[in-house]
Amino acid sequence: MTMKYVLSFNLNGLPVETLVKATDTLLDVLREKLNVVSPKRGCDNGDCGACTVLVNGDPVRACLTIGLTVAGKNVQTVEGLLQDGKLHPLQRAFHEHYAAQCGFCTPFLTKTPSRLASRSWRAFLATCAGVAHMWKSLKPFRQWLPASTRSRDDG
Ligand code: FES
Repeated sequence: MTMKYVLSFNLNGLPVETLVKATDTLLDVLREKLNVVSPKRGCDNGDCGACTVLVNGDPVRACLTIGLTVAGKNVQTVEGLLQDGKLHPLQRAFHEHYAAQCGFCTPFLTKTPSRLASRSWRAFLATCAGVAHMWKSLKPFRQWLPASTRSRDDG
């Protein structure tokens, strides 16, 4: 029989508690134990960033993070960006410019606007068919982009 442990942490500002195995990743805990499916299982080895969540304000790859290590910490998924039920300005911009496309990476992209310069962000922008719409959505947020990409204008 596999030993299980009680894991307690704050998820999007609310306390949660669940039983986990020592080997469960934070992604397993969120998606399979707590039914929070906005963090996506992409590569499952730390390369793509689709599983990124914020732990105490810092982005972490949930697929590489052992669930028990977030005990007592604050975990934020894209659902936690809502303020009084309203979308974050970047989420609203994605909605207004039809930038979601398939939506697989949207939770990650709109959850980490201050990380627009990250390698994962640029990788998603480089591969997504909706990149032109994303660039339109990003116009008000260009201050977060790397200087080398700020002058890009896709209309
Ligand atoms: S699923 Fe790709 S980095 Fe975690």
